Amino acid sequence: MTASIRTESLTRQFGNGVTALRDVSITIAPGEFVALIGRSGSGKSTLMNILGGLDAPTRGSVYFDDDEVDYADRKRLIHLRRTEVGFVFQQFNLIPTITAIENVAYPLLFNYTPWEERNQQAQRLLKLVGLADRADHLPHELSGGEQQRVAIARALVGDPHIVLADEPTGNLDSKTSAEIYRLMRTINQDQQVTFLVVTHEREMASYCDRTIELRDGRVVA
Ligand SMILES: Nc1ncnc2c1ncn2[C@@H]1O[C@H](COP(=O)(O)OP(=O)(O)OP(=O)(O)O)[C@@H](O)[C@H]1O
Ligand SMILES: [Mg+2]
Repeated sequence: MTASIRTESLTRQFGNGVTALRDVSITIAPGEFVALIGRSGSGKSTLMNILGGLDAPTRGSVYFDDDEVDYADRKRLIHLRRTEVGFVFQQFNLIPTITAIENVAYPLLFNYTPWEERNQQAQRLLKLVGLADRADHLPHELSGGEQQRVAIARALVGDPHIVLADEPTGNLDSKTSAEIYRLMRTINQDQQVTFLVVTHEREMASYCDRTIELRDGRVVA
């Protein structure tokens, strides 16, 4: 399941007077692997949060195919977060008290997926990220790179249109970072999952089809 993702004149002003995004209009085609770059404070995370339904724009629109996201509709946002986007964060954000496979299966709990099916999907995704043999490990029993692989598997579990990864390798050494990029790229190519990846590392942007750069909340042409 993929959709094109388009924003039209997105603007986000915070209550403190900061304008984090100004008239951001971008389009991401189904199956693209796009790097989002820009200096600290340029609005990258703000854009990711809006695309993922964790924050709402002050003005402007987001479309998944031709379906405009209504940010006033709570149910729509819950649906967006559960089934249309997957998130990968810098800090991995795994639940520390449950195993790798349980972390991957966790989002499916909210979709009323039967246990057997949850387990099968989680197994399949752990295998995809090369961690089938670590299914029963707790997060603290895994390396940073392995934890991020689990988080990538979890992001894929609802069969999302797009994976939003906000500095996914910010906590990893350069060798492990390159492995994580290669993994995301393979998943992108083999499963046709669209990726938008925030990165500070120029060389990581070379793994991507295209780069979108933000400067002071605007897209740099
Ligand atoms: N909840 C908030 N309330 C007020 N201002 C905010 C909020 N979140 C972000 N900002 C401000 O909006 C601007 C953009 O922040 P954002 O987190 O999107 O930047 P970023 O590009 O992700 O930076 P970094 O590379 O450091 O993660 C910054 O000036 C930041 O201080
Ligand atoms: Mg950020």
